[in-house]
Amino acid sequence: MTNSRAPGFYKLSIADRRIDLIARAGLDKTAFDGPLLDEQTANHMIENVVGIYGLPLGIAFNFQINGKDFLVPMCVEEPSVVAAASNAAKMIRAGGGFIAEADEPIMISQVQLTDVADTFSAKRRIEAEATELMVQADAAYPSLVKRGGGVRGIEVRVLEESRPAQKGMLAVHLLIDVRDAMGANLVNTIAEAMSDRLARLADGRVGLRILSNLADKRLVRVKARIPASALAGKDGAVDGGFGGERVRDGIVSASRFAELDPYRAATHNKGIMNGVDAVVMATGNDWRGVEAGAHAFAATRGEHGGYGPLCIWRAATDGSGDLLGSLEIPMAVGTVGGTLRVHPGAKLALKILGVERAWELGMVMAAAGMASNLAALRALASEGIQRGHMSLHARSVALHAGATAEQVERVASEMSALGDVRHERALSILAEIQTQELAKPRLHVGGAS
Ligand code: MEV
Repeated sequence: MTNSRAPGFYKLSIADRRIDLIARAGLDKTAFDGPLLDEQTANHMIENVVGIYGLPLGIAFNFQINGKDFLVPMCVEEPSVVAAASNAAKMIRAGGGFIAEADEPIMISQVQLTDVADTFSAKRRIEAEATELMVQADAAYPSLVKRGGGVRGIEVRVLEESRPAQKGMLAVHLLIDVRDAMGANLVNTIAEAMSDRLARLADGRVGLRILSNLADKRLVRVKARIPASALAGKDGAVDGGFGGERVRDGIVSASRFAELDPYRAATHNKGIMNGVDAVVMATGNDWRGVEAGAHAFAATRGEHGGYGPLCIWRAATDGSGDLLGSLEIPMAVGTVGGTLRVHPGAKLALKILGVERAWELGMVMAAAGMASNLAALRALASEGIQRGHMSLHARSVALHAGATAEQVERVASEMSALGDVRHERALSILAEIQTQELAKPRLHVGGAS
């Protein structure tokens, strides 16, 4: 069984991290020998390829979902996302880990019908034929049915009523169980196969035939309970004397802010998507689709029915003083087909995760989203976000001033401690380090120092 606790991993060199990960995730010893994407493969993925644009791939630790440990690969350009998710997952672990559940993998395929003379009788005619239509739809993709998927229902929505002087518009939703695929190609094929018959039944014309990215029949729900003590810093209080209860109440207040205000909800959800998208990217899934689905779903989650947060936080009322989190998000992702068929990095990411089923992958992504949200709110509700960002900034100033990989941490932490994160300060600390190194006694080949 995977162990997702790895304190000290961040201190290792990249080569040593790979060795650790290969052992931990049971990967092939050659897992990192080749590039995560080569030009030949890239050339078959999109058009007019001129190069490969890289992004860092990191691992988030401490994730335990429904009692099972996961090593979570994250592909992201933003500093601190991976560390923040790992830290928050550790706090959630202290309260028993993430509890997650996923709906059946039902995607919605839309067939638009226009110029419908009588929308309500058209709706009735289609609904009356639903069983037969479903048989026909399944026949359009027999291999999906063989894999246990297929059409599960048909819904007809009147978008624009027909009137004496105006024809109307319908949207027919084919609800399709796509099993472990993201499902876009599958459901588009079925919609195209069904559209003529639907138009005849409706006495209208075929419009668009395409999936809906508002995958609200394919939701993942995650819950977490965090002891207030786990929210405090190492000495029982995060810097500035913010104890666990105070941080918890700050997080609850931040959640209320997002529930009441779409301006805040957008940023709150951006923090969630920091975690979600990083796993979506690492596993070769369609992050634009997941983003579109998440925000369309969020558009009805606010306190007053408008845009609201995907994850909310409350203090437990059972006397424990725990912080309770709950997140709900559409998760249209797959573990087969699409990019996954060809992208070696995406295949490796799935191996690292040890996940084969799409619903399980969705749970990991949602948990990463909740962890990212918790980490952001905890920082915002206590010391503020800039402090963490400043230490990362200090590292980049140190690197820019010429610090080696071994010197970066020391230069950055000395600058942070001095509250002076400038190029000149980095240079003077580096000069001091060099003087100290030169003064150190040296071992010569042959023995004596
Ligand atoms: C930054 O990438 C994400 C945050 O803005 C999220 C939030 O405000 O909750 C810190």
